[in-house]
Amino acid sequence: MKFFIDTANIEEIKEASSMGMADGVTTNPSLIAREEGNFQDILKEICKIVDGPISAEVISLDTEGMLKEARQLAGIHENIVVKVPMTIDGIKATRRLSEEGIKTNVTLIFSPLQALMAAKAGATYVSPFVGRLDDISHDGLLLVEQILEIYNNYAYDTEIIVASVRNPLHVLDAALMGADIATIPFEVLSKFASHPLTDKGIKAFLDDWNRAQK
Ligand code: E4P
Repeated sequence: MKFFIDTANIEEIKEASSMGMADGVTTNPSLIAREEGNFQDILKEICKIVDGPISAEVISLDTEGMLKEARQLAGIHENIVVKVPMTIDGIKATRRLSEEGIKTNVTLIFSPLQALMAAKAGATYVSPFVGRLDDISHDGLLLVEQILEIYNNYAYDTEIIVASVRNPLHVLDAALMGADIATIPFEVLSKFASHPLTDKGIKAFLDDWNRAQK
């Protein structure tokens, strides 16, 4: 399973990368807005740290605007994946970008049929938002299960990025289902790196060791 880091924060990306846990990075306009500096410079910096897919989202809502932004973003680095919103205009843009060989991540996916449309349009990735569905009492991981089944039925190459991850169980369940990728906020990654019994075990080993030295 690939882990992407869901952040535009350079320090977090460096830290996850040094652990070997950053196979890629996803950003969105809200994540970029939290950081200092301009969008393109942040993306260039991220591309220097992580040698994997780096998602950068367009702001335009019309197909032509999306295409213009997408070509500019793709020109920054070969690893840039253009994030396009799941709308009719976004699907048209995805189709055109796919023909041009520009990688896309169709974002804000909340239903399996949206994911099917995105795959048919030639999306490289789709991002189902599990946390935001859970927030409104829907089952976010059921959506991932259904997309996996559909893509498997028809052998689509589009990879599933489980997004809007809010806790370690989202990642565990996604891994058990066989989702290709989870994009994980740094604080969630840190949570599942540690376990109280690991800490307790380390302390007990050290205490025993130190007692034996006296
Ligand atoms: C990543 O591609 C998404 O933009 C991100 O996971 C959304 O997360 P949120 O629902 O916590 O904002």
